[in-house]
Order: sequence, then structure tokens, then C-alpha cells
Amino acid sequence: MLEETKSLIRDVREQVLYLQEIGVDALGVEWKASETKQPDGNASANYPAPERTVVKESPPPDIVIPTRRAEAARADQKPAGSRMAALPSLSKRKPVERGAMIEDASVVISASKEMNAETPANDSAIDMETAISNESIESIRAEIGECTRCTLCAGRTQVVHSTGNYNAELMFIGEAPGADEDIKGEPFVGRAGQLLTKIIEAIGIKREEVFIGNINRCRPPGNRQPLPEEASVCRPYLLREVAVIKPKVIVVLGAHAAHNLLEVKTPISKLRGQFHDYFGTKVMPTFHPAYLLRDPHKKKEVWDDMKMVRDLLRTM
Ligand code: URA
Repeated sequence: MLEETKSLIRDVREQVLYLQEIGVDALGVEWKASETKQPDGNASANYPAPERTVVKESPPPDIVIPTRRAEAARADQKPAGSRMAALPSLSKRKPVERGAMIEDASVVISASKEMNAETPANDSAIDMETAISNESIESIRAEIGECTRCTLCAGRTQVVHSTGNYNAELMFIGEAPGADEDIKGEPFVGRAGQLLTKIIEAIGIKREEVFIGNINRCRPPGNRQPLPEEASVCRPYLLREVAVIKPKVIVVLGAHAAHNLLEVKTPISKLRGQFHDYFGTKVMPTFHPAYLLRDPHKKKEVWDDMKMVRDLLRTM
């Protein structure tokens, strides 16, 4: 009982801190021990065309902070296993054991080679396996070099490589650099990036502890979404980084990143809220922080997703 109460207090405290961090403190927050209002999950089914332009944040919505009991009640209503869904297209794949060595990592790459017949990572499987055995984040960066493999190179200031902790248990994957990232040469350093930092900190993790990358490493003109051919040229490098880092959990930010990692076209609003499988690694899709800046109503859902990530990491 005492432990339960302590845990409840800890949870509530974390939730309040998170809500304050992301700007919803004392702004229509309604404290009550009833069911949580569910924002309409379908209202913006897909992460809309990603303008990463900064939009003035509108007043946050009323958010009822859920109690543990309300959450438990909701969980009880869910069919067993509904919190861990493997997508049909992924369930057939050979899982990669965490900590597994070169052979397993090459499975990831071989699969991505099949998906992207014309990618720069399209040498023979044997070459790839040899290459990957010596692979490191640095060697991948060196191979990318001053990349001109797609037309995005024309408009970029610099290639924006993934950054963070090479021993990270948690990895975040976004879409492509925006203007701030293009100038600084680091992913997620603009306004959306600052919100991402708060979201990470809200689950008790420092930004320096995680690894952060994008599907594309060059800023698309006008911050448009990368085209499929641009994504498929760049994505293999990120997948190779996933194989090097071997995170326990990956959070994919927004529909574009989720679709590119999980190879589905399901709207992000349907993908989020449950874990998916990427070769044995748990993947939580959630809304992109740039989208949260435009629609703060979705912060509650991101918080729910991040709590699931936090709780899963605690058990691993
Ligand atoms: N949006 C992204 O998807 N990635 C970044 O690095 C910045 C904004």
C-alpha cells in the first residue's frame, strides 16, 4: 500500500512536471479522478505535411490528468496484448537478438537492401556483411562524406548526422533537418528540438543519454517532406546506425519517419499508442514535436506514449 502510494505520487509528480515542461501547467488543467477525456484520435489522422516552420503555440487544451485507477480501468478494457502490436508486414521478419553480433546486424541491412534496390548501400550481401562487421557511427559518417547521392544536397548547408550516446538504450528518429539543424549541423536543435528535449527529460532521461537521427540528413527545400526516392537513398545509413547502436527502444517521430522505418502507410494516429517491432527492437511511433507545436492537444497522447516507453525501459 505504501509502495503503491509512493509510486502514485511519483507518477503524478512526473506527469505534472511534464505538463509544466511542455507548457500546459495551470492552463485549463482539470484535476479529477475520473476518466480522461480522449481527444479525437482521428481528427488529424496523419501527421500533416510537415511544415517545420515555427508556429505560434495556441492555448493548450483542457487536460485531465489521468489517475492510475482511470488508466488501469482503461487498460482493463483493452484486449490482451493490444499494447504490443506487431504489424503483419514485420511479424514475418527474423528478429534480431539484442546484443547480437554481425550476422544479426546484417539481417537488418539485407532487408533494407531488398526494400531499396537502388540505394547506395546496394552492394552484394557479402560485401555488406564484411563492411558492417567493422562498422561504427564514424565509419558510416565517413562513407556518407560530402554526399551528392540525391538532389537534396543542392540546397543544404551541411549534412546533418545523427548524434548522441553511442550506448543509448533509447533512440529517436525524425524526418529531416529543418533550417536550424541545417545551420547547426545537429538534429532537433530548433523549436521542435527543444520540445523534444523536454519530452525526453519528462521521462527522467537526459538528452545526452539518447541517440537522435533523421531518415534524411539534408534539409529539403522549404522544409517539404522528403520524396520517397530521397528517403530511400538516405534511410539505409540510419538503419545501419540502428544496427550499430542497438537501442532497446526506438521512438519514431511523425508519420514520415514511422512509415519509413516500419514500412507501412497506416496513419500515425493509428500507429501510436502501441509498440511495434523492428527486427526485435520495440518501436513506439508518436506525433512529431513540430506537430505538437501546431496542435498542443496532441501533447497528452505523446505523454501517454512516452510513459509506455519509460515503463518498458524500466523492465528491460
Ligand atoms: N524535424 C525533424 O524531423 N528533424 C529534425 O532534425 C528537426 C526537425
